[in-house]
Amino acid sequence: MFAVVLVLVAGLGLVLSSPSPRSFSIHEERTNIARGWFRVGRRAPPAALLPLKIGLKESNIEKLHDRLLDVSHPDSENYGKHWTPEKVKTYFRPSEESVSAVIEWLEEAGVERARIELSKGDNWVQVKDFSVAEAERILDTEYHVYQHTHGDTRLACSAYSVPAHVQHHIELITPTLHFDGRPSSKRGTQLSARNFKAVSAADHLKPDSNDLSNCDVRITPPCYRALYNIPAEPTIRAASQNSFAIVEYTPQAYLGPDLDLFFANFSPSLVGSRPELISIDGGVVQTEEMDFGVNIESNFDIGYAMTLVGPGQPVRLYQVEDIPEGSAQLLAPFNDLLDALDGSYCTEDGGDDPSVDGVYPDPAPGGYQGPKDCGNKQRSNVISVSYASNEADLTPFYQIRQCSEYGKLGLMGITFIFASGDSGVAGNGELCLFPNGTQSEDAPLFNPLFPANCPFVTGVGATQVNPGSTVFDPESAASLTGGGFSNIFALPEYQKKAIEEYYKYHEPPYGADRYNNSQRARGIPDFSVNGVNCTVVAEGRTIAVAGTSAAPPVIGAIITLINDARLAAGKSPVGFINPAIYSNAFRGAFKDIVDGINPGCGTDGFESVEGWDPVSGLGTPDFEKLLDLWMNLP
Ligand SMILES: *[C@@H]1O[C@H](CO)[C@@H](O)[C@H](O)[C@H]1NC(C)=O
Ligand SMILES: *[C@@H]1O[C@H](CO)[C@@H](O)[C@H](O)[C@H]1NC(C)=O
Ligand SMILES: *[C@@H]1O[C@H](CO)[C@@H](O)[C@H](O)[C@H]1NC(C)=O
Repeated sequence: MFAVVLVLVAGLGLVLSSPSPRSFSIHEERTNIARGWFRVGRRAPPAALLPLKIGLKESNIEKLHDRLLDVSHPDSENYGKHWTPEKVKTYFRPSEESVSAVIEWLEEAGVERARIELSKGDNWVQVKDFSVAEAERILDTEYHVYQHTHGDTRLACSAYSVPAHVQHHIELITPTLHFDGRPSSKRGTQLSARNFKAVSAADHLKPDSNDLSNCDVRITPPCYRALYNIPAEPTIRAASQNSFAIVEYTPQAYLGPDLDLFFANFSPSLVGSRPELISIDGGVVQTEEMDFGVNIESNFDIGYAMTLVGPGQPVRLYQVEDIPEGSAQLLAPFNDLLDALDGSYCTEDGGDDPSVDGVYPDPAPGGYQGPKDCGNKQRSNVISVSYASNEADLTPFYQIRQCSEYGKLGLMGITFIFASGDSGVAGNGELCLFPNGTQSEDAPLFNPLFPANCPFVTGVGATQVNPGSTVFDPESAASLTGGGFSNIFALPEYQKKAIEEYYKYHEPPYGADRYNNSQRARGIPDFSVNGVNCTVVAEGRTIAVAGTSAAPPVIGAIITLINDARLAAGKSPVGFINPAIYSNAFRGAFKDIVDGINPGCGTDGFESVEGWDPVSGLGTPDFEKLLDLWMNLP
């Protein structure tokens, strides 16, 4: 066994000293403290308990990118041959070698076997009654007390190590650096934003359902149809096999009377219709708290989704989180949604990181008392999410693990669409980055958003009809639209050519002191649709909103209609769309956006240019062209 280790070490060109099982490698380390938190001088009490969980390295995870391309690249002979959930689970299940290596390590370190448990999906090793003293010894670290400005406290460390010989079996360990979650005591500041702002209270703008002359001051469903060639009365033929879901995080909620007012103007046959509620972890469409801030996102997403696919295709609503978790929420806990959809992803008691993700049954007063949803909710072909966190809000390993899960669901044929953010090249709250990772409004580095930064989802931005222009004139990129390059995720194969061309002809005027200019980073967004001056009804009033939030439900509707046609023809849903939309064959299906910038961090941001760019992506879609192209694929 030692010989094997020696060969490996030599192979890596490292120092050829005899490795001892006690040689530790730093596994995760942070240079900055998450926003709102500060370290209190105190060390954590040695006897305090930590719910230790070790996320095991998934088998074959390095092949995910290629496997996903294999079923979603139009040139592949396996196009559309999505995997069953069972096949995905088996293929990526951590190896027995990883399970035993980690258990052996813990036992050697003095943890009794009886306290060690393996999660349902064999992907997490959990230790019961684990104390700070044990964690400090086993992870070669020190735990300190951290406090949030709202008063909540947490135990966390700033780096941890594992023995070199088990490191390649481990993805991440919690709770360690992962403490940047919600304070339990008081309402937190919303870190993870729904991506919408009210731009005008436009009561006086009485929507006239078919008028296209005012699309610059109020985008309506007919404006979207005219802009992107979407049929007014789509023929739906495969509704029972098809599914389209909108995700909302409590307390964000739609109001029925608002939907009806919207439908009355734009799709009268839908008056009285509601999305099918799929409650996740006690999610409720609450009506106790009502204002623009909690209603515009859901009202918009559901109103446009249902109107654009029409009455023939039911729309689902994944309403995530109970009221106590939701109201204290700092980060949209995307993992809670993923846990509910994929049982092989969730841990026994749910959530990958109890400081970020919800814990159920919820101990808070009035909290959801049911068990954590774990693989028991229906998956949908298209999932639209208009919420996002800053890449810098979460640790890289946390994002990488979650991003892989989107890839696995892509293998199963699911399309995930995320908004790219509303602060140009800056993050939510106009925050930018210092080189040490600290976020500040005065910092110089661009701050992309998660999960649009993940190469296994479709990240979408916003365009606008220019003032005084019509839907028949070229749009430009909206200045709020989030775009740029990830500091964490590498350039995926399908995007290589687009980014190569971008740099060849339009290299941006910034260096590494502004953004990841390595030309090897995932570029954001993938494409865009209109997101400025969009009409929405909130509390009985018609107002205009702006944000990349508009894009996921509109694009979701387009993909859902394409899925309907494919399903009716006996084909698969389109699944992960990026390899197709970047392929040569699909070039003509997008209207290139060549005007507009996305300022932020004290700069003009990037510029929208010919071809793909980190402002508008590939441009805006043409439904009819996309439909033809996708109908020609197997
Ligand atoms: C990170 O860098 C900024 C700017 O130089 C500095 O103000 C801040 O204290 C640093 N944070 C840490 C945790 O080192
Ligand atoms: C949005 O609408 C306002 C009027 O409410 C108008 O002044 C502005 O030019 C519009 N923006 C765009 C981009 O068309
Ligand atoms: C830029 O992206 C590449 C590819 O993901 C990565 O290896 C590199 O560390 C990133 N650089 C910075 C400064 O974040």
